[in-house]
Amino acid sequence: MEVLLVNIGQLIQVREPALTMVKGAEMAHLPSISNAWLLVKDGKISDYGTMENCPERSAETYDCKGRFVFPSWCDSHTHIVYAGSRESEFVDKINGLSYEEIARRGGGILNSAARLQQTSEDELYRQALVRAEEIMTYGTGAVEIKSGYGLSTEDEIKMLRVIRRLKETTPLTIKATFLGAHALPAEYKGNRSAFIQKVTQEMLPQLASEGLADFVDVFCDKGFFTVDETAEILENAAKYGLQAKIHANELDYSGGIQVGVKFDARSVDHLEYTGEEEMEVLLNSNTMPTLLPSTAFFLRLKQPPAREMIQAGLPVALASDYNPGSSPSGRMQFILSLACVNLRMLPEEAINAATINSAYAMNVQQELGSITKGKKANLFVSHEIPSIAFLPYAFGTQLVDKVMLNGRWI
Ligand code: NIG
Ligand code: FE
Repeated sequence: MEVLLVNIGQLIQVREPALTMVKGAEMAHLPSISNAWLLVKDGKISDYGTMENCPERSAETYDCKGRFVFPSWCDSHTHIVYAGSRESEFVDKINGLSYEEIARRGGGILNSAARLQQTSEDELYRQALVRAEEIMTYGTGAVEIKSGYGLSTEDEIKMLRVIRRLKETTPLTIKATFLGAHALPAEYKGNRSAFIQKVTQEMLPQLASEGLADFVDVFCDKGFFTVDETAEILENAAKYGLQAKIHANELDYSGGIQVGVKFDARSVDHLEYTGEEEMEVLLNSNTMPTLLPSTAFFLRLKQPPAREMIQAGLPVALASDYNPGSSPSGRMQFILSLACVNLRMLPEEAINAATINSAYAMNVQQELGSITKGKKANLFVSHEIPSIAFLPYAFGTQLVDKVMLNGRWI
């Protein structure tokens, strides 16, 4: 099957040859072609150029009429498999409770876990599918989804099976992450090591035998899991070939960045508490620093130092953290707006961070994250916009018009 897109006002994020990530000052450059065409063949980007050299229109042709074409967003950190919602905690927060206080009262992650344990696999799939379909309309073409609301072996496996089903039934490119150590279940209070034991000796072998996870994650932060506990989990996960993606330094200088880098994590995520020492460690690594600006916004956290990181020469990725507690939205265009307003990232930097760098953060940079010949034809056509800066600027307007995944319009 072939589709020819013509009269593209700007074809954004054109990278030839392919690259794995962009860092530091390079992040402000976003190569694009004006007045372009793009040919899609068998689900892949086959060729592109400027309209003066447009090929014969033998294929199905779509006239973009000057609108822009972007590679799909890669949302490299989400928790979209969950049951119900937690807007009552949202109100608690308005009334002055902190995220940690809510967690200590048995709210937060434990609240979602209690709901999920009572929800069947089919119902969980149904609820998650609505969110997966929702984010596709926002221009997301690849998404990483974590477990972590099961907390028992059976329920963690249930979550991971739902993620597998989403992989099989949606056109999204999906990576699954096992987050057994998301919060300590109440019954393990006072016996933390027994829970770590359960994660490493019971959950990991079982999910590995079913091939259910691509990555492993730990919430390594104040009030959740320690550096030593994290190290123990990562060491065991490595035996099953699972690379790490760590929740780190959201609530404190937790040592999460250091332990993540020590175990060659694919990414370390959140990073509100990042200082010089953490940046130094990241500079000497292959780990992608990933910022989740909607969580900092929704929980009124301190903002991660994106400018300092880019200034230091680091790459930065952006993701939505879509989850019921700290970021109940998977709208990447709004993530870009928050990155520009609160993190002072330039629109070009934010787009690089949400495409090629976030593709790297979920290890799909070979097939996604840029307009490159041979990559998957996952892209979207915008509504009429005057420039790329308009995308984060018009923060409440849906600017994604038509979405193509695997070469097909959805
Ligand atoms: O990424 N920080 C840890 N986990 C999630 C929040 C999960 C929840 O509150 O349900 C996060 O923010
Ligand atoms: Fe998260």
